[in-house]
Formats: sequence, structure tokens, C-alpha cells
Amino acid sequence: MSVELALCLDRDLQRHNTLGLPCVAERFIDAESPARLAAAVAMAQQAGWPLTVLGGGSNLILPRRLSGLVVRPTFADWDYRRDAEGGIALRVEAGMNWHALVMASVDRGWWGIENLALIPGHCGAAPIQNIGAYGVELADVLESVELLHLDSGRYETLTGAACRFGYRDSIFKGALAGRVVITALNLMLSETPHPRLGYGDLATRVTDAPSPRDVAEAVVAIRREKLPDPAQLANAGSFFKNPLVSAEQAQHLLVDCPDMPHFAQPDGRVKLAAGWLIDRCGLKGVRRGAFGVHDRQALVLVHHGGGDAEGLLAFAAEIAAAVEERFGVALSREPRLAG
Ligand code: EPU
Repeated sequence: MSVELALCLDRDLQRHNTLGLPCVAERFIDAESPARLAAAVAMAQQAGWPLTVLGGGSNLILPRRLSGLVVRPTFADWDYRRDAEGGIALRVEAGMNWHALVMASVDRGWWGIENLALIPGHCGAAPIQNIGAYGVELADVLESVELLHLDSGRYETLTGAACRFGYRDSIFKGALAGRVVITALNLMLSETPHPRLGYGDLATRVTDAPSPRDVAEAVVAIRREKLPDPAQLANAGSFFKNPLVSAEQAQHLLVDCPDMPHFAQPDGRVKLAAGWLIDRCGLKGVRRGAFGVHDRQALVLVHHGGGDAEGLLAFAAEIAAAVEERFGVALSREPRLAG
């Protein structure tokens, strides 16, 4: 069966990335169904076009020009089945907006993803960086990921364990980077109350027996206080990962800075707060031309307009260099570079 594809040339992507970076895609296709996605991938393979997959564009740094083909999966159905133990097996397609899924889930009284409210982006991108916030990561509820291999056109379902999830990390940033398109997620949620309120002051913002919606609303309120809304001020959320250092280095830093936030990890390393390190370098709220460090959360870089990927990367390098010089800690970037 042949599938009609609407190929768009020189498509402007500035409004399709939350950093608002100027970018023109040489070719662009909205894939409204898995069949159209497979056809678009086959077309790119045949023509030898480099392929870029675009989701919500919320964790991506786009260059001024993307050659080859940009494809955006927009299919967004979801359904679920209930198992005997009160488990909700939820399947959602890649193009669904993540926050819309969280709200649909809490509206039904399901537990599992309420702490991940208001994270921008599409569901298909969520496993790539293993989205996480307020003590919960996608990996905690993810049963499996459905994907399409670009080279063979073969569909596969990877179990959560096979996705090799880590902090802001997965196989999709490693061995499978640029080799697959995620088409759907299978999550296991629950009707049994299971609030996770251990992070920050989340517990003080809800009642003793909160509903999943109460928790999601508290998370939304906290995020709105600290994080800029991309619709008002372009940004990609955290620009750097929180660095992991040795216990020895953390001890050494704590001698000078006893108030430094630090979180011991199961593997013996210690996670530091990149936002705090940047803040302590006196960089919170600084602005250099088109780009700045957000004035309420130093981990977020903002774009005031008129800049491009090159300018953003230079600004980020300046911040990382300041942290390295002051604390001897290397910061690594969170959003991925496209193209
Ligand atoms: N801090 C400062 N100054 C700042 C920012 C933070 O002193 O400008 C301190 C805070 O006071 C706190 C510590 O650093 O003691 C950690 O700050 P926060 O709780 O705001 O969290 P974070 O570690 O900066 C991470 C995630 C966020 C997520 C929050 C809550 C990463 C890279 N970022 O930020 O994720 O919302 O925890 O779980 O892990 C995102 O990925 O886009 C994102 C926003």
C-alpha cells in the first residue's frame, strides 16, 4: 500500500523549538500515523537524506539550517487496560503532549506520573533523557518503549531494563542515538494511593491524604514559581545536568562551602546542584546580548530573541568555564544538538 506524504520545503522551525532558535529545515514532514512515519523514514533512507526527529522541540538546540529531512510524529492516541491488582497499563503514542497525558491520568485518579506535571515536550521524547522531577523519573513507571529502526524499517519493543536508564540518560542517547524513532510508550500506573512527597517542600504544599491531582497541582505551582514559561521567555528547562562528583571531591568542596546542596548516590558518588554552583559564581540573572541566565533558577538559560545556536553554545561555554574555574566541577549540557 502506498502512503501519500506531504513534503514541505524550507520549513521555518523557529516556533517549533522552545528555545526559539532560528532554524530552517530543508525538508519537513508531519507524520500523522505510524505508517506515514515508516514511509518518511524509508524515503530518507532511499534518498540518503540525514534524518532528524522532532517532538515538542523542548530539549533540542537547532542549527540555522537542518539539511536532509525533519520528521515530526504527530500521532497521539492513548488507551489503557486495568489489571486485577489495580494496575493501569497505559499505552500512549509518541505525538501526545506529555503534560496533557499527566493531567488525563490524574483526572482518572491514577498514580505514577503526577510529579512529572508541566514538563514540556511530547511523550516520544520522554524516554530519551528519562525525564524526571520532584523525586520521580519516567523509568520508575515505564514498562517498555515501542520504536522503529531507521536502517531496517523494523519495529521493536524494548523493555524498560533494556533502555538502560540513568539520571537524564538512556540507550537513546548512547548506542541507539540517531538510529531509532520512538513511536509509543507503555507505562504501568496504579489506582492504589502512592504519593511521593520527599523532594523539597512538596509535602508542605498538599494535604495529608492528597489525590494525584493535588500533587500534580502542587508541582505545577512550584514549577511556575521558578521556571520560565517558554511561551513567554524562550528556554529549554535545565540547560546543564546536575554533576556527579566523587565523595572525596564533594567533601573537599564542603569545607569551603558547608551550605552546598549535595545528594549521596547509591554508587557512592555525590550529585551537586548545577543551579547552585552557577548561582554561587554570581551568574544568576546575567545577560549577554540575546541570552541570559534565568533570574529565578540559574540552571535555566533563556533566549531574549535575536540569537542563534552558535551564540547560545558560546554563552553556555562561558558559564561552564566559570563553574570549572571556581569549583573544579565540569558541567555537561542537557539539551541535545540537532543536525
Ligand atoms: N539552587 C540555587 N540557585 C539556583 C537554583 C538552584 O541555590 O539558581 C539550589 C536550590 O535552592 C536547591 C538546589 O539548588 O537547594 C536544587 O534546586 P532545584 O530543587 O530547583 O532543582 P535542580 O536540581 O536545580 C532538578 C532538575 C529539574 C527539576 C528539579 C526538581 C536537572 C538537570 N534538573 O533541578 O528539571 O524540575 O530538579 O526535581 O536534574 C529540567 O530538566 O528541565 C528540569 C527543570
